[in-house]
Amino acid sequence: MKVLGIETSCDETGVAIYDTRVGLLAHGLHSQIDLHAAYGGVVPELASRDHIRRLPLLIGRTLADAGLRAGDVDAVAYTSGPGLAGALLVGASVAESFAMARGIPALPVHHLEGHLLSPLLAADPPAFPFVALLVSGGHTQLMRVRGVGDYALLGESVDDAAGEAFDKTAKLLGLGYPGGPQLAKLAEQGVAGRFRLPRPMLHSGDLDFSFSGLKTAVLNVVSAPGWNPADMADLAAEFQQAVVEVLCAKALAAMKKVGLKTLVVAGGVGANRHLRETLDEAVARRGGRVYYPEPALCTDNGAMIAFAGALRLAAGEAGPEIAAVRIRPRWPLVELRPPQSARTSCET
Ligand code: KG4
Ligand code: ZN
Repeated sequence: MKVLGIETSCDETGVAIYDTRVGLLAHGLHSQIDLHAAYGGVVPELASRDHIRRLPLLIGRTLADAGLRAGDVDAVAYTSGPGLAGALLVGASVAESFAMARGIPALPVHHLEGHLLSPLLAADPPAFPFVALLVSGGHTQLMRVRGVGDYALLGESVDDAAGEAFDKTAKLLGLGYPGGPQLAKLAEQGVAGRFRLPRPMLHSGDLDFSFSGLKTAVLNVVSAPGWNPADMADLAAEFQQAVVEVLCAKALAAMKKVGLKTLVVAGGVGANRHLRETLDEAVARRGGRVYYPEPALCTDNGAMIAFAGALRLAAGEAGPEIAAVRIRPRWPLVELRPPQSARTSCET
């Protein structure tokens, strides 16, 4: 079965084709970074308009890269939430129309399920069950994952997500958009410990996070008299160290709590090198192993959506019977259920 995946939840247009027998056939991505850079953040209306312009062309190109025609596609999977409403509507409308015109199923996919399952696309994938650390621009969550759609929330951020903290801190340090990767790059040139920032909720006794205070602590440092901008790299390094320490400590605590030795890290912040090195070492010391998506699939992409959709379709899920443009800008991951085949859903 060949599944066309479409991702348009934020500022990346992603398209991919996943073949359940062969694997990933092709994937294409258009990033809107240049479009939003002048505004210092994503402008939702501009994002939607750009998805409209790019998506049909990107679908054509990705099909060509895979050596396929539109008629060869067996099903469409699209991100239906969470995300920006207007941006989601573009992907959902195109996906549903593509599917309706060809009489094939269209499956709405949860964006975070895409991230969460993306490490399974790697050459050496993890096996269920595992603990997942989802660290993106919008979410910071620890989940126990027993299988597709079997997710239990263990802890999450009570305010800013880890990626959001990176982006906001980068902005207040005057780094460009998107700030996360630039702040991480600057941190590599600095030394942590010269400044001392808090480790929020490190000893809270639960698996929740809080990152908004860190950004304020950084603001206090740079607005104090005597601040020398030449020390920016050291401050960036200390900020990164604080985020990584908390993420690592809570991930280890989650693994201990549910008795699992496999950790899966997904979402944009999972690209952070210092986070990877710290987690790899700490988990290995406890006899466990950390799995990540391929580097190109850490941030938003169509491949993870095609793949999550393909797993559900292959497990017998049929997709909604009535064609409709389905979006859910706010959608808790724990509301998902394992794939439901047509037969099972009749029985229940
Ligand atoms: O998963 P993603 O592409 O989009 C969401 O679903 O949010 O994650 C984007 C987030 C942004 O906040 C970005 O700054 C952050 O991931 N990010 C990083 C790095 N690369 C991306 N944060 C820290 N270090 C990085 N190397
Ligand atoms: Zn994402």
